Amino acid sequence: MANITLAVTGSIAAYKAADLVSLLTKQKHQVTVLMTRAATQFITPLTLQVLSKNKVHLDIMDEERTEVVNHIELAKKSDLFIVAPATADTISRLAHGAANDIVSAVALALPSGKKKMFAPAMNTNMYVNPLTQENIQTLKKNGFEMIAPKQSLLACGDFGEGALADVQDIVTAVQIKLKETRI
Ligand SMILES: Cc1cc2nc3c(=O)[nH]c(=O)nc-3n(C[C@H](O)[C@H](O)[C@H](O)COP(=O)(O)O)c2cc1C
Repeated sequence: MANITLAVTGSIAAYKAADLVSLLTKQKHQVTVLMTRAATQFITPLTLQVLSKNKVHLDIMDEERTEVVNHIELAKKSDLFIVAPATADTISRLAHGAANDIVSAVALALPSGKKKMFAPAMNTNMYVNPLTQENIQTLKKNGFEMIAPKQSLLACGDFGEGALADVQDIVTAVQIKLKETRI
């Protein structure tokens, strides 16, 4: 059992985070969900709160506990941090060390040695764009493991690489990663 921090970002695939949370909690993991503002346009925080049985964190300035700084505490207590789905925008922010929202701030505050993963989901042209590919390489160089997107008919009507990996494959990748850390 591990403390998994799941960051959900503003992709059309964000609704799949519900299944992801559900499967991870059934495996007895504690799942804490972070959402970007854009993610809340695609799936409600309430859904993920009910499935995770935990408060969903939306705002870096939401400091309801006086004894700790929320985003620092969230980073410290994470055994594994995963962004799924990960948008091009969030990948860019993480690659550039941004900390201007709850997802990027927690990512940047992760103590060294924490397990970090991301599962991109986006239109093929966004995915193959050299800027996105450069950002992905930067994340990999900084310890993030990528759960590769698959080829599929995308929501925009294009066919190609960029669809979120199957939820079950993401869960399997998380299990493997957690075993590596002997949690
Ligand atoms: C209908 C719709 C679907 C979108 N799907 C994606 C997507 O799958 N992947 C992506 O990178 N951006 C997608 N976007 C664009 C992002 O929502 C936008 O870049 C946003 O700034 C992402 O913010 P975030 O990374 O903070 O969540 C979509 C936008 C719309 C309107």
